[in-house]
This record gives sequence, C-alpha cells and structure tokens, in this order.
Amino acid sequence: MTAVTVRVPAKVNVQLAVGGLRPDGFHDLANVFLAVGLYDHVTATSADRLTITAEGRDVAGIPLDGTNLAARAAVALAERHGIAPDVHLHIAKDIPVAGGMAGGSADGAGALVACDALWGLGTPPADLLEIAGGLGSDVPFPLLGGAALGVGRGERLTALEVGGAFHWVFALADGGLSTPAVYRECDRLRREQGTGDLAGEVPAPVADPALVAALAAGDAHALAAVLANDLQDAALSLRPDLARTVATGLGAGALAGIVSGSGPTVAFLAAEEEGAAKIAAVLGSCARVAVAPAPGSTVLP
Ligand code: C5P
Repeated sequence: MTAVTVRVPAKVNVQLAVGGLRPDGFHDLANVFLAVGLYDHVTATSADRLTITAEGRDVAGIPLDGTNLAARAAVALAERHGIAPDVHLHIAKDIPVAGGMAGGSADGAGALVACDALWGLGTPPADLLEIAGGLGSDVPFPLLGGAALGVGRGERLTALEVGGAFHWVFALADGGLSTPAVYRECDRLRREQGTGDLAGEVPAPVADPALVAALAAGDAHALAAVLANDLQDAALSLRPDLARTVATGLGAGALAGIVSGSGPTVAFLAAEEEGAAKIAAVLGSCARVAVAPAPGSTVLP
C-alpha cells in the first residue's frame, strides 16, 4: 500500500461541565461528545521523510511543521513501534480551524489511523486511544465517533448510546478562539464572581443523566432543554458578537443554540431536517448543516 485516506468527524459538546483548575494546568471535565457529519480527510503517503500539506477553508491558520497534531500523531505512533515516521500527510479540511469542533484533534486521530494502515502496524484500538490521549484531550474521541462521555481531561471515554438522528446547524465565525485562552477566561470569570476557580473550590463535574437519556432516546426536544457548556460565558466574554449569532439562530426556529466547545462556532439543534435547512438559510453563508451521530475515523476504500 502506498497511500491511505481516512475520513474523520468533527464534534460538538452537548454537555461540557468544567471543574476547577488543577495544579497541572488542566481542568477535570464531564464532557459529552457527539460526532457530527462534518469531516476532514487525512491521506498518508509513503515518503522518505515526514512532510505535511493542507487544503481547504482557513488552512492558512494551521501549522505545516512538526507542531501539527497530525505530524505529532505520526511521530508518536512510529515511536511506539520503533520505526521512522517517514510519511507525507495531506489534510483536506472541512472542519473549521480553531472553531471549537476539534478539527486539529480530528486530524491527529485521522493521522494515527492512516499511518497505522499505511505502515501495516495493526495497533490495537486500546493502544491507539492511549496514544491519542497523550496527544491532546480531544484526540481520542474522533477515533470512536458516535457519542461518548469523556472524564479526566476529557480523554477517558465511555461510549454512549444514541437512539436517533439529530439535525444541527453550525454558524462558523471569522477567526478562531484559543482553547487555553477560553479556559483562562472561565477561571477569571469564576474568580470575579467570587466562586473560586481551583479544583476543590468548584464542584466536581458530573454528566447530566437527563442529557444521557435524551441522547439514548434520540429526542431532540429533550436534548435541547439540557444542552450545557460551562465555557460558553467565557467564549461570549471574549467574543461578545456571538450573542447576536445565538439570537439569530433561535429566532429562525432552533430548539437551542450553544457555543461549541471553546468556540467560536455556535451550534443550533433543530427539530428535524427541514427546520435545520430554514435556520441555515436565515444564518446565510456562515452556516453548515450536519447530522449526528457520525461514525468515527474510517479508512476509505
Ligand atoms: O489537551 P489539549 O492540548 O487539547 O488542551 C489544550 C489546552 O486547553 C490546555 O493546555 C489547557 O489550557 C486547556 N484544557 C484544560 N482542561 C482540559 C482540557 C484542555 O484546561 N480538560
């Protein structure tokens, strides 16, 4: 085999409960991931050294050196097997860059699966998940797809049942938001409100049983009622213009609107496919429609 292409999904966080700041700089999470049908494609081709190229919207914003998560994934997998990470990685991006939909993490997951197939390694899925968790908190989930609860930094996953299709509209924003900056703003707002921001001061994050039940039932109205993102206030504080986007989507009939992860993408849940199309039409050219759940990283024939 000389080239392998892997399709890898974006995510929306239907619940993102953020605990206090830990001594290691991370936050404990109860993070309910849902994979959505917006995809990047990562192609691994035999090469005599590690190189990386990209195409698609906003690719000017992604690094094409060893710091790219896809390149780090190739290096981590090669190290695990004691081989050289000689591969060319090409990323065709459709997931927004720095948009709160784990696009960079998806590329890391896609590169792991593509290199594993190209190099004929047959790495066990549990080992791929462990390597992914070492690369970043959001990298394991796109390997699985579907829905999952992530605890710890968000990287320790338990798959969740999804009982039907959910219709989403994503309002892409100009420019990205830095994930560490949004977490820092969340901590700052907590200190300002006098609730404390440290682990031990903030209640331990837990998954909402009503939300897990709504996913299992495939019930969009029930899910809309319990969508929750503890990073939303921080994202809105850094990007006050997003409040107008939320209002526009709700005015167009969305059941709920929520900042996706650390933003700035805003996710709207629609009652059905026609509702999603109408919300997208009102939002205009920034809107992307996608259905969930989407499958995890898949090697294309
Ligand atoms: O794990 P990842 O590299 O995606 O994390 C990026 C940054 O997001 C971390 O350096 C940290 O600032 C923040 N983060 C956090 N708590 C988490 C996950 C990420 O504070 N559970």
